[in-house]
Order: sequence, then structure tokens, then C-alpha cells
Amino acid sequence: MVKSLVFLIVLPILTIFGFTLQENAESVKSQKLGTGFEVQASEDPTCKDCHADLVGKKVVHSPANDDCRSCHLVNIPEHPGKVSTGLFLKENVPALCYSCHAEMKMDIDTSRTIHQALSESKQCNNCHSPHSSDEKKLLNENKKELCLTCHNKEMEINGKKTKNISLLIKTSKVIHPALKGGCTSCHKPHASSENYLLIGAFPVDLYVPGNKENYAVCWECHDSDLLELSATTTATNFRNGDRNLHNVHLRGARGRSCVMCHDMHASNNNYLILDKIPFGKWSFELNFAPVDSGGSCSPGCHGFTEYKR
Ligand code: HEC
Ligand code: HEC
Ligand code: HEC
Ligand code: HEC
Ligand code: HEC
Ligand code: HEC
Ligand code: HEC
Ligand code: HEC
Repeated sequence: MVKSLVFLIVLPILTIFGFTLQENAESVKSQKLGTGFEVQASEDPTCKDCHADLVGKKVVHSPANDDCRSCHLVNIPEHPGKVSTGLFLKENVPALCYSCHAEMKMDIDTSRTIHQALSESKQCNNCHSPHSSDEKKLLNENKKELCLTCHNKEMEINGKKTKNISLLIKTSKVIHPALKGGCTSCHKPHASSENYLLIGAFPVDLYVPGNKENYAVCWECHDSDLLELSATTTATNFRNGDRNLHNVHLRGARGRSCVMCHDMHASNNNYLILDKIPFGKWSFELNFAPVDSGGSCSPGCHGFTEYKR
């Protein structure tokens, strides 16, 4: 809006007198133009005069504040009349971004998994504005919504068909409170050396040794006593008397991963318990039924079993 207003007012005046737009005030004032006139610019337009809206939001990318030419090779004398289409970027994204964010490139290059969002369509700009934004870290959307703009469909990730996370969250009664802080409470947005772009270890396999190192991401917020203590009356409610049933299920060389009972993101059952346990292409019902002092289930693994605290 502001851009077009300034454009409407400034540009016609400038073109009537036949002089050229120039960013640098000194050179405009002394420049001899093809018409032979020595012009005195009453107003020297800069990039920001016409494109103010681009840098008008709360968080401004510091190079966009300092000098548009650190990224665009736009020559004002030929602009916008002659060069009004085309971005004239110094380099393509992401090389452009990495030319200053070199440390980040190093970090990404040395990671085991790189988020595919970095390489498809608008690359870095899928998530960031290069100019300014009302969101922290120049994000295009609120941090909570951002990820769901793409994760709103089923995807095939590492050969495994995954849930539509947006739909799952919208249609579930119980949402993991960790999601309040956004997806980045557990996931890295760019790249990671852990599975699933996580900030800490978490296994891909359903059966894994039951040591706490395998589930590091969970202990960012939960106490690993939940897994490690064989007897407790406080570390978990999943217990029969003081017998820790988390420990019973997870310990040993072929312990069961959290994903055999819980959904990490959301579920219709209390405590994020799954409806069905996934086993490759097939699955069976868990039939979890919580009560005040415990609960019961009857999965395919064993028959109907109750626990009481
Ligand atoms: C006198 C007003 C004016 C000035 C000064 C100006 N621009 Fe523009 N610019 C425009 C207009 C009008 C357009 C074409 C309409 C549009 O796409 O917004 C445009 C288009 C562009 C485009 C191409 C957008 C596209 O989608 O193709 C870029 C990039 C750009 N300007 C960058 C700059 C930079 C960098 C500067 C400073 C060196 C600058 N402009 C100075 C008015 C101006
Ligand atoms: C850090 C690099 C960088 C800087 C600095 C920068 N731009 Fe851009 N600009 C880009 C990239 C990348 C795009 C393409 C964005 C996209 O594809 O969504 C772009 C797009 C544009 C466009 C097209 C319209 C739009 O909103 O995408 C205009 C106009 C523009 N820039 C003008 C400017 C002006 C004026 C400045 C200085 C105030 C500036 N840019 C500073 C990287 C930069
Ligand atoms: C000309 C150098 C330069 C280029 C090119 C550049 N950046 Fe930056 N960027 C900076 C500087 C300087 C900062 C501020 C660093 C700081 O505060 O730690 C910054 C900060 C950021 C931030 C963090 C903002 C915040 O509020 O903390 C993001 C996100 C970002 N840049 C993304 C990008 C993307 C995406 C591109 C490519 C389109 C890009 N940058 C290209 C210099 C650059
Ligand atoms: C999938 C979305 C997404 C893509 C794609 C993406 N980023 Fe980010 N980026 C984020 C989020 C989210 C944050 C904020 C992380 C946080 O606050 O925990 C961030 C933070 C940053 C920061 C600030 C430094 C920091 O760690 O806080 C920079 C710089 C940055 N990104 C640059 C880039 C560049 C360059 C690209 C392209 C190579 C890119 N980003 C691609 C989502 C993305
Ligand atoms: C409590 C930590 C946590 C939070 C917060 C979290 N995730 Fe996850 N996410 C995981 C774990 C653990 C896995 C791997 C196990 C699995 O597949 O469920 C995973 C897997 C994924 C996968 C891989 C596909 C899949 O289902 O296996 C995607 C995509 C994903 N998360 C997206 C998101 C999005 C989007 C958000 C924010 C709405 C989010 N995650 C928030 C922990 C979390
Ligand atoms: C521009 C679209 C886009 C956005 C935005 C986006 N993603 Fe993704 N994400 C993808 C694609 C594409 C894949 C890879 C699907 C595949 O492997 O086929 C993916 C994969 C993932 C995976 C699985 C990675 C693996 O290899 O196991 C996780 C976890 C994930 N995204 C989390 C997030 C989080 C967290 C955010 C927000 C910070 C986010 N995504 C934003 C497109 C996006
Ligand atoms: C960023 C912090 C955070 C991380 C990381 C995290 N959680 Fe949570 N989780 C919470 C909070 C907060 C609660 C609610 C209070 C509580 O029960 O401790 C919760 C509750 C739960 C619940 C019970 C839900 C309910 O409705 O009572 C389960 C199950 C759970 N988390 C599993 C996990 C698993 C598995 C991991 C590792 C993949 C994990 N969490 C990682 C913050 C986190
Ligand atoms: C065999 C199924 C099963 C597995 C595997 C499992 N849980 Fe649970 N979990 C439960 C049940 C059932 C509850 C609900 C207990 C209650 O309140 O009655 C629960 C509750 C929780 C809670 C809520 C607090 C508490 O302990 O009562 C957290 C947090 C939690 N689990 C985290 C995890 C983590 C982290 C993993 C993997 C390291 C894991 N669970 C693996 C069945 C399981």
C-alpha cells in the first residue's frame, strides 16, 4: 500500500523531469543525465521509500535494514521502469543465505538428516521472510502454525506412511502439553543428527535396549526414573502397587519403545495412549481403560491385564 502510494507520487514527478532514480544522494545531485540537465533532486528515493512495507514489520532482518544491495543487484537508474520484474538476487537461495550464515551451513552439512523443507520450492523462504516479519526469527507464520502448513497431509517418510499431524491434533481430545511450546520443543527445524530431526535421541525400531540414552529427548522434560526404577510409588502412575510397569515393559535388550503405547503428538485416550499398536503393515487394538486407581488393557501381546496403585 505504502509502496504504491509513494510510487504513484514520486515516480511520475521524476519521470516528467526525465531524471533518473538514484539511491546515493550525492551522486544524484551531481549527476549529468543524457538530457543534459544538471538535476537537483528534491527527494532522493531509496529502496525503502518505495518498498517500505517489506521492512515495516516488527522484526527486521538486519541486512534488509542496512542495504538491500547485500542481496539484490538492482540498479535504481533502470528501475522500476526497465527492470521491474525479476529479483536480481546476487545468488540463489539458499547459497545467498549461507553467504552470511556460514556457521549454519556447516551445522547442516554435518548433520545426518536434513529437513526436506529446506530443499523444496522456496527453500529457506518456505519458513522465513528475507526482509521482515511480525514473528520471532523472521518466521512466516506463528511458530505453532508454521510446521502444520506442510504437515497437514499424510506423508511417506523413510518408507513409512505417517499420520496427518495437523488433522491428528485438531481431532484429538488429548494433546501432548509439549506442543504448547511449538514443534521445536522436540524437533529441530533445519537438520539433526538424531532420528526424525529430534533434539535428542529416540529410536526408530519398536524393540530397543531399555537404557535411558535411547530416549534422551523425553528426559528433556520428564524424569528418567519413570523408566529406570524397578520399584517406586512416585516416579510413575503406570505401576501395580510399587512395581514400575514402565520399567517392566521397557527394560532388557528387547524393551518396548514408547511409541508402542503412546502417540507422541496427540490421541483420543488419556495419557496419550494409542488405540492400536502398530506392527509394520498391521496393528492390533490396545483396549486401554483407565480407572481412578489404575487401569487395564488387553492388547494382542497378552490377555486382559489390570494394574492397581
Ligand atoms: C521509485 C520507487 C522505487 C524505488 C526507489 C525502488 N523500487 Fe523496486 N520496485 C518498484 C516498483 C513499482 C516495482 C514493480 C512492482 C512490484 O513488483 O512491486 C519494483 C520492483 C522491484 C523488484 C522486483 C519484484 C518482482 O517481483 O519482480 C525488486 C527486487 C526491487 N524492486 C528491489 C528494489 C531495490 C533493491 C531498490 C533499491 C536499490 C528498489 N527496488 C528501489 C518501485 C521502486
Ligand atoms: C538477505 C537477503 C535480502 C535482502 C537484504 C533483501 N532482500 Fe528482497 N528478496 C530476497 C529474497 C530471497 C527474495 C525472494 C523471496 C521469495 O521468493 O519469497 C526477495 C524478494 C524481494 C521482492 C519481491 C517481492 C517480495 O515481497 O518477495 C522485492 C520487491 C524485494 N525483495 C525488495 C527488497 C528491498 C527493497 C530490500 C531492502 C529494503 C530487500 N529486498 C532486501 C532477499 C533479500
Ligand atoms: C548480508 C548478510 C546476510 C544474508 C545474505 C542473510 N542474512 Fe540472515 N542475518 C544476517 C545478520 C547480520 C543477522 C543478525 C545476526 C544476529 O542477530 O545474530 C541475521 C539474522 C537472521 C535470522 C534470525 C533473526 C532473528 O530475529 O534472530 C534469520 C532467521 C535469518 N537471518 C535468515 C536468513 C535467510 C533465510 C537468508 C536468505 C534469504 C539470510 N538470512 C541471508 C545477515 C545475513
Ligand atoms: C521448516 C521451516 C524452516 C526452514 C525451511 C528454514 N528455517 Fe530457519 N528457522 C526455523 C525455525 C522454526 C527457527 C527458530 C528456531 C527456534 O527458535 O528454536 C529458525 C531459525 C533460524 C535462524 C536463527 C538462528 C537460530 O538457530 O535461532 C537462522 C539464521 C535461520 N533459521 C536461517 C535459515 C536458513 C538460511 C534457511 C535455509 C537454508 C532456513 N533457516 C530454513 C524454521 C525454518
Ligand atoms: C514431545 C516431543 C514432540 C513434539 C512437541 C513434537 N514431536 Fe513430532 N515426533 C516426536 C517423536 C518422538 C517422533 C518419532 C516417533 C513417532 O514417529 O511418533 C516424532 C515424529 C514426527 C514426524 C515423523 C513422522 C511420524 O509420524 O513418524 C513428524 C512429521 C513430526 N513428528 C512432526 C511434528 C510436528 C509438525 C510437531 C508440532 C505440531 C511435532 N512433531 C511436535 C516428538 C515430538
Ligand atoms: C515447506 C513444507 C514444510 C514445512 C513448513 C515443514 N516441513 Fe517437515 N517435512 C516436509 C517434507 C517434504 C518432509 C519429508 C517427507 C518425506 O520424507 O517424504 C518433512 C519431514 C519432516 C520430519 C521427518 C524427518 C525425518 O527424516 O524423519 C519431521 C520430524 C518434520 N518434517 C518436522 C517439521 C517441523 C517441526 C516443522 C516446523 C518447524 C516442519 N516440519 C515444517 C515439509 C515441511
Ligand atoms: C518440552 C517438554 C516435553 C518433552 C520433551 C516431552 N514431554 Fe511429555 N509431557 C510434557 C508435559 C509438560 C506433560 C504434562 C505433565 C506431565 O505429565 O508431566 C507431559 C505429559 C506426557 C504424557 C502424559 C500425557 C497426559 O495426558 O497426562 C506422556 C505419555 C508423555 N508426556 C510422553 C512423552 C514422551 C514419550 C516424550 C519423549 C518422546 C515426551 N513426553 C517428551 C512435556 C514434555
Ligand atoms: C506398555 C505400554 C507403555 C509404554 C511402552 C510406555 N508407556 Fe508411558 N504410560 C503407559 C500407561 C498405561 C500410562 C498411564 C498410567 C496411569 O496413569 O494409569 C503411562 C503414562 C505415562 C506418563 C504420564 C506420567 C506417568 O508416568 O504416569 C508419561 C510421562 C509416560 N507414560 C512416558 C513414557 C515414556 C517416556 C515412554 C518411553 C520411554 C513410555 N511412557 C512408554 C504405558 C506405556
